Amino acid sequence: MVSYKEIQASNALINDATAPRVAVFAGGTSGIGKFTIRALVSTGASVRIYLVGRKSSEESSRAFIQELNAINPKADIVWTEGEISLLAEVKRICEHIKKTESRVDLLFLTAGYAPFGTRKETSEGVEIAQSLEYYSRMLFILHLLPVLSASEAPRVISVLAGGLEKANINVDDLDLKDPANFSAIRAQMQYGTMNTAFLEKLASQNPNVTFIHSWPGWVSTGNMRRGWDENSIVARIFWFILEPIVYLFGYSDEESGQRYLFQATSAAFGGRGIPWGGKQGVNSLEKPEEGLFLINYSCDCTPNAKVMPLLREKAQEKVWDHTQQILQPYL
Ligand SMILES: NC(=O)c1ccc[n+]([C@@H]2O[C@H](COP(=O)([O-])OP(=O)(O)OC[C@H]3O[C@@H](n4cnc5c(N)ncnc54)[C@H](OP(=O)(O)O)[C@@H]3O)[C@@H](O)[C@H]2O)c1
Repeated sequence: MVSYKEIQASNALINDATAPRVAVFAGGTSGIGKFTIRALVSTGASVRIYLVGRKSSEESSRAFIQELNAINPKADIVWTEGEISLLAEVKRICEHIKKTESRVDLLFLTAGYAPFGTRKETSEGVEIAQSLEYYSRMLFILHLLPVLSASEAPRVISVLAGGLEKANINVDDLDLKDPANFSAIRAQMQYGTMNTAFLEKLASQNPNVTFIHSWPGWVSTGNMRRGWDENSIVARIFWFILEPIVYLFGYSDEESGQRYLFQATSAAFGGRGIPWGGKQGVNSLEKPEEGLFLINYSCDCTPNAKVMPLLREKAQEKVWDHTQQILQPYL
């Protein structure tokens, strides 16, 4: 476990020279993304942050931006409206960012939830949570790779289920279209594992970029209220039991934000960034530069060594090919 003191000490070294100067947050309108933005801005460093969010979150985000400007007048927060469950929208947003920025240092992806209710698709025919937690995230990366590669220390973080992947995901129905294959638990497992399979391949193809798939543990963000059918009694019972537990035993907003700022900046993961005197994190391929960092809620690397070889053998190519097929029209 990386202690909170070590994390705070590392984050205290973030300044104009070491901060990710241009960052894109998709999912920063709430929860872990929002806490991480607040932690980054609170360093006082000069940063430009693209805060990507849908229209319904604009008002609350404008208030958040005012708060951030008061904390750090050197922070430039660019509200970037878009419905990121739609792949065409992700393409549009990325094209806009690429027109205005020659480099991006940090891409931070947190949108999504467990789809507890009935399976619902976007107008593009993708299950909504799968689009938010997987396809739209991978599309953001593919579009922004050229500008990420222009950074000295580029980093991509997908917050979902790093280290929790399973080898037995459904490779014959990757999108869980058959209702018999679909449930919230299966979906979270499937989407988390697809993140790891695709990101590991991207990491090996782009050794100049640090890729992280991270599992946040428990953070009381209201995330478990999302994804249910309206007026569900089961949902109310579920929240009534689980929310106090997550609130009591999970990370505070502040610590969660600081832990993710550490993951976004420390050289513990890949050697680039804020110097780290502790043990170096080991990536999934155990190679110094290539490989995906699977990180848990303690900020420890958890390479899931029993599952990963099986996942590579049974599913990785299928996930890669299928994802390319889904994303191709939006590239
Ligand atoms: N919190 C935890 O304890 C925990 C534990 C394990 C895994 N996770 C996973 O980690 C990720 C981040 O969690 P979090 O707690 O930070 O989540 P969160 O606070 O619920 O934030 C989720 C983000 O997703 C966006 N979003 C949700 N539905 C959307 C839709 N239909 N269209 C567009 N955007 C949508 C939200 O935008 P709006 O603000 O516009 O609604 C928000 O920015 C999620 O994938 C979550 O499932 C969380």
